[in-house]
Amino acid sequence: MGRPTLNVLVAVLALLVLIGLVLLVVPYAGNSVGEQQEEAESGISAELESQPRKETLQSDASRQASSGISEENSQTADRSSEYLILVNKTHGIGKTYKPKDLKAAKPAASDRPEEYQKLRKAAARAFYRLSKGAKKKDCVIKLTTGFRPYDYQKTLYKQYIQADGKKRAEQYSAKPGYSEHQSGLSADVSSPSVDYELTRSYGKTKEGKWLAKNAHKYGFIIRYPKGREDITGYEYEPWHIRYVGTDAAKEIYEQGITLEEYLGDI
Ligand code: DAL
Ligand code: ZN
Repeated sequence: MGRPTLNVLVAVLALLVLIGLVLLVVPYAGNSVGEQQEEAESGISAELESQPRKETLQSDASRQASSGISEENSQTADRSSEYLILVNKTHGIGKTYKPKDLKAAKPAASDRPEEYQKLRKAAARAFYRLSKGAKKKDCVIKLTTGFRPYDYQKTLYKQYIQADGKKRAEQYSAKPGYSEHQSGLSADVSSPSVDYELTRSYGKTKEGKWLAKNAHKYGFIIRYPKGREDITGYEYEPWHIRYVGTDAAKEIYEQGITLEEYLGDI
């Protein structure tokens, strides 16, 4: 083989290696086109969410530290994800707890204060996806309220007690410091078909039915199901969804259980 032929061969080989490398690297560089579009629409960066799909494994101690929730208020089950914290009548979240990664959740009903329409990043992104999935089935589902700080919950709780008395109010409203809304993982959602009201009849609407059947695919559960008041402590709320991540949501949905049962805390 003459020198010029060898040079050509080496050049061709180098070119092939280069093309191979480009083909290998390009698909992993940056977000996919779909993700980029979603990112632009939702206003939430896509990196954030790779992890909620696969729940982050953390030790109990580090999870409690990062969530700001004390050890005695944590569940004991072997369910180590920062999205599996338990907040209910016996597990408080504390007066000062406020998630550090709150983002505006979209789509949101326009007749409510925007400052209470935020969710933790992972939940906000999952909710955006949920609403898009719903839209494909002609269901408009928007967030009415997400994160509620301690003081706002206090105002609401007092109003409800004035209107309905303590006993009745506590069947549907959490005391300040005990509302899951303070975790930034809960959303009250509704639809135009019920004028964005939070009403029990929502469960009978097309949107409410879609939500009950599909929320788990996006990592959410119907947190206060019908007939489980003795376990959750609250009456049926077809509009209140809670982000737990897709693995937990699927299991909870398929087993027809509550978060308390899933976490072994009953
Ligand atoms: N309505 C739910 C229980 C809350 O007040 O957090
Ligand atoms: Zn709620």
